[in-house]
Order: sequence, then C-alpha cells, then structure tokens
Amino acid sequence: RDDEIARAQTFGDLAALAFRKIHLLEESERRREEIERVTESRARLIRGFSHDLKNPLGAADGHAALLEDGILGELEPRQMNSVGRIRASISSALGLINDLVELARAEAGQIEIQTAPTDVREVVHVIAGEYQAQAEAAGLTMRTEFPEEFPVVESDPSRVRQILGNLISNAVKYNHESGEVAVRVGVRERNGARAGRWIAVDVADTGPGIPRDKQHLLFREFSRLEPGTKHGAGLGLAISQKLAHALGGEITLQSEEGQGSTFTLWLPGPQEQ
Ligand SMILES: Nc1ncnc2c1ncn2[C@@H]1O[C@H](COP(=O)(O)OP(=O)(O)OP(=O)(O)O)[C@@H](O)[C@H]1O
Ligand SMILES: [Mg+2]
Repeated sequence: RDDEIARAQTFGDLAALAFRKIHLLEESERRREEIERVTESRARLIRGFSHDLKNPLGAADGHAALLEDGILGELEPRQMNSVGRIRASISSALGLINDLVELARAEAGQIEIQTAPTDVREVVHVIAGEYQAQAEAAGLTMRTEFPEEFPVVESDPSRVRQILGNLISNAVKYNHESGEVAVRVGVRERNGARAGRWIAVDVADTGPGIPRDKQHLLFREFSRLEPGTKHGAGLGLAISQKLAHALGGEITLQSEEGQGSTFTLWLPGPQEQ
C-alpha cells in the first residue's frame, strides 16, 4: 500500500510538472507572438512614415536642384554654396530614412536576399574603389589584399557590398590623420560552434580603437560611442550585422583601445552550402 501511495504521489507530481510546463510554453508562445506583432506593426509604421517623408523631401530637393542649375536665374557663389548644403542635408535625411526602413525590415525578418554565384574579391574591389576618393580626401591610404585563387560562393553580392560599404565608411570616418584602411579577403578555418571553412573579409583601420567593454554595444541600433564628434545615426553596424546573419554569416570585431579596429565579415565558404 505504501508503495501504491508513493507511486500515486510521484504520478501526481509529474502531472503537475507537465501542466506547469505546458502553461509556460503557452505563455512563451504568447509572448513570442506579441513581440512579432509589435515588430511587424513598428515596421509597417516606419514604412508608411518614411514614404510620407520621402515625398516632400524629394520635392524640396527638386526645387533646390532647379536653383542649382540656374533655371530660376544665376546664383551668386554664396547662394550656390547654401543650396549645396541644403541638398546635402536632404540627401543625408533620405539616407537615414532608407536605413530605418532597412532596419525595420530586417527586424521583421523581411530582408530580401537574392543569391547568385559571387566572387567576393570582385565585390571588395568595386566597393573599395568607391571609397578611395573619400579616403584620400581624409588623408588616408586604402589598401586591398586578394589571394590569387579564390572560390566563387552562393551569396548576395549587393548585400555583401552594402555591408562592406558600411564597414569601410566607418574605417574611413573613425581613423587618425594619415592613417590606413586595409581590406583583406581570404578563406579561413574556424573552430568551435562555427567550425569550417569561411570566407573572411577584414576591414582594418588605424583609428582610436574600441574599448572591450563597449564592443558589444556597437551592433545595437542608434548606439554611438562619441556622439557629436562625427556624423552618423548609429545604424550602419546594426543593419550590417542583421544582413550578415541573413547571408548565413556574421560580423566580428577585434580591437584594443588605441590600436585600431578590425571588423571581419564572415560568409559561408563553398563547402557549407
Ligand atoms: N572602425 C571604427 N573605429 C572606432 N569606432 C567605430 C568604428 N566603427 C564604428 N565605431 C563606433 O560605433 C558606432 C556605431 O557605428 P555605426 O556604423 O553603427 O554608426 P555610425 O557610423 O555612427 O552612423 P551610420 O553608420 O548610421 O551613418 C560609431 O558611432 C562609432 O562610435
Ligand atoms: Mg557607420
């Protein structure tokens, strides 16, 4: 009898545990749905809002362009300069709006990825070329390193380009005078949870570096280490990390204060696909 009572008790305990577990599962499912709903409605809000903002900004830029082209009469150099600044401000506002839309999409898991056979060296070559002039204007040297033999992988070249554009623009922006930006492409072996052969693109700078305890903050949206010193919204890395994840990879960071920073974009290597 004692035996039976003990067994009945154990059974009762197990049943109670099972019920509790089901309850918790239901709760977490409800919470997940709630988060999804909020993220989705935020994405919709941002999309609608940006659309409504883009129209008047586009119209303003159109008028500024008319002034700049002298269609409404010749401008004096000072007026011309002012119109130039108006257009630059409009363009940075438009850039910010696009970033916000992109981020909202990424959060709602709506990033469009169009894969194609991709030679990452080619992408790096093009994007580094685009930033060459900007680097030179800032007194920096830009260097690229490619191996001669390199695998073609399935990826989205325009997304890779977008990510590297963000990393290179940071390396140019957060650098010392007569510093250097080095972009290195290679195939690298990784251990641990992400063991295997990966495509790695390093974007290394000779800037101020990032203290270890701040490094994890950078990939959050709107996070900036020294707001006010440079232009920026603090969205570039947040978006880039989400894009990298959507490509099956990630961005990692190696940096010491005062020693420059190296951001690495990892993309799945040929045998991972
Ligand atoms: N290479 C770097 N060296 C030092 N600090 C950096 C570097 N890259 C990023 N940071 C720091 O991380 C912050 C976030 O970078 P992120 O690219 O997300 O935003 P941003 O450059 O400020 O603005 P945005 O890219 O949206 O125009 C920067 O404000 C800067 O403080
Ligand atoms: Mg940036």
